Amino acid sequence: MNFEQLKPNVIQILEDTSNDRDTKLKTLCQFLSDNVSYYNWVGFYFANHETKTLHLGPYVGAETDHTVIPFGKGICGQVAESNANFVVPDVSAQDNYIACSFTVKSEIVVPLFVNGKNIGQIDIDSHVLNPFTEADERFLEFVNSEVSKLF
Ligand code: SME
Repeated sequence: MNFEQLKPNVIQILEDTSNDRDTKLKTLCQFLSDNVSYYNWVGFYFANHETKTLHLGPYVGAETDHTVIPFGKGICGQVAESNANFVVPDVSAQDNYIACSFTVKSEIVVPLFVNGKNIGQIDIDSHVLNPFTEADERFLEFVNSEVSKLF
């Protein structure tokens, strides 16, 4: 798996005019999950800045109870406030973490900016300990910059 090779497919999925935005995002989640072995849950959360909550959007992976997350809570909620990538090599070492499944060992959350505003995030859980590198961050920043064109 080489992130550079995945980029054209990401663009193609998001440019498919026969699909609406949620379908494109779900297809993208599936594509990422299928092509990166340690991406075991892939989804988007979107921010409501009035209620200061995140809302689950398209995702693939185990069903989650965490469809609404207040800003500040968990890894996702912290990224809603920090506007920065959050890489968690080992979730068991995090105090402010919302557990979805005992199979999840690590997590990466990268904010999604539209015209400079943090409107949500891509969230990826892994069953592997410490799998994420700067290459994942750069790739997911690319993914989100492409996704931002849909808004
Ligand atoms: N673990 C996340 C909650 C969302 S699930 O991973 C789908 C968190 O701590 O914010």
